[in-house]
Amino acid sequence: MGVYINEETQEFHLQSSTSSYIVHVLKNGQIGHLYYGRKIRHRSSFAHLFRIQPRAAESSVYAGDLAFSLDIIKQEYPGYGTSDYREPAFQLEQENGSRISDFQYESYSLSKGKPSLDGLPAVYTEDPSEADTLIFHLKDAVTGAALDLMYSVYAERGIIARSARIHNQGDQVLQANRLLSASVDFPDSRMHMVTLNGSWSRERHVAERPLHEGVQKISSARGTSSAQHNPFLALKRPETTEESGEVFGFHFVYSGNFLAQAEVDHYDSTRVTMGINPFDFRWRLEPGDDFQTPEVILAYSDEGMSGLSGELHSLYRERLVRGPWRDQTRPVLINNWEATYFDFDEKTLVSLASAAKDLGVELFVLDDGWFGRRDDDTSSLGDWYADTRKLPEGLPGLSKKITDLGMAFGLWIEPEMVNEDSELYKKHPDWIIHVPDRPSSHGRNQLTLDLSRQEVVDYLYDQLHARLSEADVSYVKWDMNRNMTEIGSAALPAGRQTETAHRYMLGVYQLYERLITAFPHVLFESCASGGCRFDPGMLYYAPQAWTSDDTDAIERLKIQYGTSIAYPLSTMGAHVSDVPNHQVHRTTSLEMRGDVSIFGMFGYEMDIRKLSVEEQEQMKQQIALYKAKRELIQKGTFHRLLSPFEGDGNRTSWMVVSENKKEALVGWYRVLAEPNPGFPRVKLAGLDPDQLYRVDGGPVRGGDELMHAGLLIDQEHSGSVPPEGEKLGDFISCVYHLEAVDEELL
Ligand code: GLA
Repeated sequence: MGVYINEETQEFHLQSSTSSYIVHVLKNGQIGHLYYGRKIRHRSSFAHLFRIQPRAAESSVYAGDLAFSLDIIKQEYPGYGTSDYREPAFQLEQENGSRISDFQYESYSLSKGKPSLDGLPAVYTEDPSEADTLIFHLKDAVTGAALDLMYSVYAERGIIARSARIHNQGDQVLQANRLLSASVDFPDSRMHMVTLNGSWSRERHVAERPLHEGVQKISSARGTSSAQHNPFLALKRPETTEESGEVFGFHFVYSGNFLAQAEVDHYDSTRVTMGINPFDFRWRLEPGDDFQTPEVILAYSDEGMSGLSGELHSLYRERLVRGPWRDQTRPVLINNWEATYFDFDEKTLVSLASAAKDLGVELFVLDDGWFGRRDDDTSSLGDWYADTRKLPEGLPGLSKKITDLGMAFGLWIEPEMVNEDSELYKKHPDWIIHVPDRPSSHGRNQLTLDLSRQEVVDYLYDQLHARLSEADVSYVKWDMNRNMTEIGSAALPAGRQTETAHRYMLGVYQLYERLITAFPHVLFESCASGGCRFDPGMLYYAPQAWTSDDTDAIERLKIQYGTSIAYPLSTMGAHVSDVPNHQVHRTTSLEMRGDVSIFGMFGYEMDIRKLSVEEQEQMKQQIALYKAKRELIQKGTFHRLLSPFEGDGNRTSWMVVSENKKEALVGWYRVLAEPNPGFPRVKLAGLDPDQLYRVDGGPVRGGDELMHAGLLIDQEHSGSVPPEGEKLGDFISCVYHLEAVDEELL
């Protein structure tokens, strides 16, 4: 394992415990691709995998050599205009208008570990032996520009992180019209593309389509990674299932505009490209400037979609999320938003917190409405000081009252935004993302602050630093509630306006970095109207994210199932809320809401003071169960068992297994009652086949039986007299607890 280099044939084999990725230097000096897939044994050369032939109607690079056509050749960072007609990874424009580049290999460097990326989120190593980093150094002779292609391969994970860096070492200005992070050419197209699509309130629904000729893409031009498409794409074989078969994942560690696409060409090759969306992007590189692209995570598994998820989950949990909260179990919280909305005072908040404390809740989160004079969503964003009409003693007073109850205190902020009706806007009307002479479109009555400007970032840092210093704050919910429009910055010259959206993202990352450095003990949860900016970029700063504003238990089955394709449970905020649900007005039982939410970072978002005594008792039990199992939920291996996106979607099931396979929790959910249904079994996954497990403190079953014969679900009412204890009607759920038992003791 590691990186094998054949200096003579100029081949490079990046091998992990499960995958191989092989590249070589082409005859024209560019970097070609030979293989990506299941680990293969290293041999001194794989040059035979390179195949070209003269083909009619192809352009070729050299006079007299009809075979060397870049349209045929698999490449690592392809350009357009020199015989390859597929969509390229990059395009640089010179002062003379030429858009042709020829980056040729000069040297490589190899090091242990993985360097961080300046100002950008990135996965990391703790011990340098975990990964090897190979960098190809290339140069374009005409412009003098240098290009570095960086690959970090993790020895014990099916993971390669890729990025690119352009350095203008020449003496002319270059315009980057496109600078993607990675491109991979596969030799065939017999694959299905899986993406996570949606909108506000139904984020990350799983979509799957067979690849076909031409470009199939997802992207965002909203200034955020978006709820419409997560910056994620997987290619799986048609026969790949949840637990078996080959799958390749591509995930962009970035929170702004992106492009993720697969292009199937006329030789049935598939090119996957991913990076900052080239649409509405253009970056000016003065002599001496450089540009580092964000990174793309390439994940490989031959153990199906659950295998792919497992690779991503452990990587993000262990080597993307940072800080003390990475490994610490997360507190059970109560958030006042759906309990009070903007209408609260200190007394209400303290009484809500105190009722929650009695039931076992550990953290009280004060949501929107505590600052400026914010009684609705038309004012005060930008004015980050407490509204003393509602909080007479400000944040210090409230936080003291909460912590005196024995609870931790958390706070909502939305730093990236401003309302026209605010002190900040009156003082700095040009501090917003906007263009000259045009009205600004609104989103939720607010405007986006121009975080591409350092003085805006500094202002926000000072304000937030003051608030987090004066009060005892242990948790911050960092919200962001609108997409960008009229994208432009008053601080940038005309020729750099197309840099605004990326510069904004760099500003957001800088603000986050400074705050988490100043307040390392604070648990940050990112949020964007729910899950509209749920991406690996954010997880580098905020260990968890609010999964969706939609807290309806039935909708959450799809949202949490889809989110789990790429993200671990430790990142997904999941709360029990009121009924009828505030988003879809559906009424489900407290039991079902709890059974869905415990597969996430758990909390409540309702006026629990209005619950009946029985319901409060039930809530107490839910919290006790969560506390007992949260280590397993946060750090276990997740398996999806029944998909809400397949068939009629009426049943969903999933489970989480502890690392030592001694314990598991299985969630099973049925949406609608069915007349005279069958007798379903759910085949479990990830257990030790040789281990015996006690199910819910009762019968003992073999791990092999549970995985192959399945777990019997005794909750399917036949239509006649139901057996005692059976759950009836629509919206029912069961959570089963499996515990390993020693054979000898039976
Ligand atoms: C967004 C968030 C909600 C809540 C409100 C407050 O919609 O997603 O959870 O914080 O803002 O305005």
